[in-house]
Amino acid sequence: MLDAMTTHPKHTTPANIELKQLNWLDAHALAKPIRTSVFIQEQHVPESEEWDDEDETSIHIIAMKNGEAVATARLTQKGKIGRMAVLKTHRKHGIGSMMLVELINIAKQLGYQVITLWSQIHAQGFYTKHGFTAQGDDFLDAGIPHIKMRLSLQR
Ligand SMILES: CC(C)(COP(=O)(O)OP(=O)(O)OC[C@H]1O[C@@H](n2cnc3c(N)ncnc32)[C@H](O)[C@@H]1OP(=O)(O)O)[C@@H](O)C(=O)NCCC(=O)NCCS
Repeated sequence: MLDAMTTHPKHTTPANIELKQLNWLDAHALAKPIRTSVFIQEQHVPESEEWDDEDETSIHIIAMKNGEAVATARLTQKGKIGRMAVLKTHRKHGIGSMMLVELINIAKQLGYQVITLWSQIHAQGFYTKHGFTAQGDDFLDAGIPHIKMRLSLQR
């Protein structure tokens, strides 16, 4: 677990995106402006619901483009992916997919057998493309319709 929490740059893609894997101490200054812009300002998630104790124990991914942090996501200790946010100006360029694939690989390396997430209904297709399947009925979280999804990592 400690290895996965260390700070080191990952790989660079043709889109000139570098993924950093960080703990919250190192990630928060980069992640907070992105999550504030995407969830609090754009999606009107109450600030009190955006920040929780799981940030401190999660593995965070930050996507950097030309030195600017443009996207973030996390994997909690319970194996739940969340807070997946790409700045509006950088969407539909594969950055969300890069982060999701990275977190799936990290979860595999850490020995998780299943990854869960709560998908906003509009984003269900995004997660389905990466093998996640929906479970149960939709529900409201922070006033936004969600559905539970899971991905089995068992071979
Ligand atoms: C959802 C989100 C993270 C996707 O990130 P992204 O970088 O735009 O996604 P990608 O470019 O990697 O998209 C990958 C694929 O998913 C599809 N996709 C992206 N967003 C989608 C959405 N909201 N609904 C359905 N499909 C979507 C794309 O069309 C693309 O398909 P393709 O490979 O066939 O072209 C991004 O739109 C976002 O930050 N939205 C606002 C915050 C949010 O809703 N987060 C999700 C919380 S559950």
